[in-house]
Amino acid sequence: MCGIVGYIGNLDSKEILLKGLEKLEYRGYDSAGIAVMNEEGVHVFKEKGRIADLREGVNTDVFASAGIGHTRWATHGVPSKENSHPHQSTSTRFTLVHNGVIENYDLLKREYLTGVEFKSETDTEVIVQMIELFVGEGLHVEEAFRKTLKLLHGSYALGLLDEQDRETIYVAKNKSPLLVGLGDEFNVVASDAMAMLQVTNQYVELMDKEIVIVKKDFVTIKNLNGDVIKRDPYTAELDMSDIEKGTYPHYMLKEIDEQPPVMRKIIQRYQDDQGELTIDQPILDAMNASDRIYIIAAGTSYHAGLVGKQFIEKMAKIPVEVHISSEFVYNMPMLSEKPLFIFISQSGETADSRAVLVEVKEMGHKAITITNVPGSTLSREANYTLLLHAGPEIAVASTKAYTAQLAVLSILAAVTGKSRGHELNFNLVQELGIVANAMEVLCDEKEEFERIAREFLSTTRNAFFIGRSLDFYVGLEGALKLKEISYIQAEGFAGGELKHGTIALIEEGTPVIALSTQEYVNLSIRGNVKEVVARGANPCIISMEGLNSEGDSFVIPEVNPILTPLIAVIPLQLISYYAALHRDCDVDKPRNLAKSVTVE
Ligand code: F6R
Repeated sequence: MCGIVGYIGNLDSKEILLKGLEKLEYRGYDSAGIAVMNEEGVHVFKEKGRIADLREGVNTDVFASAGIGHTRWATHGVPSKENSHPHQSTSTRFTLVHNGVIENYDLLKREYLTGVEFKSETDTEVIVQMIELFVGEGLHVEEAFRKTLKLLHGSYALGLLDEQDRETIYVAKNKSPLLVGLGDEFNVVASDAMAMLQVTNQYVELMDKEIVIVKKDFVTIKNLNGDVIKRDPYTAELDMSDIEKGTYPHYMLKEIDEQPPVMRKIIQRYQDDQGELTIDQPILDAMNASDRIYIIAAGTSYHAGLVGKQFIEKMAKIPVEVHISSEFVYNMPMLSEKPLFIFISQSGETADSRAVLVEVKEMGHKAITITNVPGSTLSREANYTLLLHAGPEIAVASTKAYTAQLAVLSILAAVTGKSRGHELNFNLVQELGIVANAMEVLCDEKEEFERIAREFLSTTRNAFFIGRSLDFYVGLEGALKLKEISYIQAEGFAGGELKHGTIALIEEGTPVIALSTQEYVNLSIRGNVKEVVARGANPCIISMEGLNSEGDSFVIPEVNPILTPLIAVIPLQLISYYAALHRDCDVDKPRNLAKSVTVE
């Protein structure tokens, strides 16, 4: 989390930096700041709150053609103006922005910086003070920068200004994402290409422990020993329309509506010339060589993993375990003889998942990453990548990435199964096409979901989601969606588990949203609904055509039973969206959250 940007060229940097930060706000939005540099010196503007708040405080009279910026998701120190970036050294010669966490900052402070008066509670300030210290001891700025970096333990994407050199921005990266964008008589820096698409689509990827000396007309990449590294730029295949809201009031609604075209794109991208679903042979070989698959993920991606386990076990007949990434390192299960790891991550940057990837790679195991972001850390560091092709997901609450993850997992499972002699008794291409059509039908029923949200969720304090089998996993995702954007305390439960404790929480009027899309559990889940109704609950049953009964709140179109999670989640996404709207919540940027969680 946190996002950084930088610009050096001939134009005024302020607006470019602010626009860039607006595009990075999904990475954190507690506070923000920019520092711009001209012949008068470095001008720092920072503010607690959103980029819009920062914008109001920026002095428009200052013209400066070099600058850096930062949008923050607090880790060390509360969100405040003092703790927001950029941070300056005592003399104010050096100004720094940082995305990441320096684990040994306290140690460094005690070892090198006793006597220095710190202005913030952040780990970042230590870095800028150390650079000043080493420059004071006689090192050139670049050497001081590299020396400091060698002493840091942790993650960083850094942008540094030196007041005495208006021609340069120094940047560096370790574990946190960072790109350098190339232009004609200007160059830029950004945590995500999205931020600087306004000025360029040419980017150079940086590897861990590299620094870049960014000038207006050239950039030099070096390792921490100062050796120059050559690397060609690539073209970011993003379109401005992918990252704009267009006529939508919120990114979340736009992204929910994008699910049918995303389904069709995935089908197309995973088809060969004969129209057969296909997966790269090395990935199939890895799947077939394994005796057990370990899916590692967090949040919504973990919920996709739970459904993915069912797909892989049923279609490919390989046993699967699903683990929350932040827990895996402490409670590593006994691994099978030939394990294969699948990391599911929309952003490809989640630090908890990456920590597991680093560990299992050290143990010599192979890994596949399923991600929406080509070139992301988890993609680069795994042996193989399967892309989601969902386009940028900007709303903090994940929607289209979840259904894209399910679609890709179903294709991986089916193609692997076929290669092992387990043919499906249905045509997955056709069935995913039916799913895409059903999604469209659901996206056209927004008034209904708005009504359900108003009826069941506009004033409640809590809500429960219940389901059995696949519906249980979808319920978990529905509860996460609702709680994260509406702040209603929402929990998902296996229908049969309620009576073992949670039923005590049911009071008069408590909303219980029950899913019923699986014939073999339809009667049992309806029995669970009766149990909660008898205790005063307000039931909202969402069933599938063919399994519906009188009084159900909504009936979703029929799709292949194993694929129902792909469409049953859409009512839950839309109900959550409208519940958040009714409660005046900031749908796209819920409190305390960030899109890409790059701290463990
Ligand atoms: C919830 C949500 C999060 C993410 C989680 C993992 O809507 O978006 O729970 O799913 O932070 O992120 P990725 O998938 O990027 O690893």
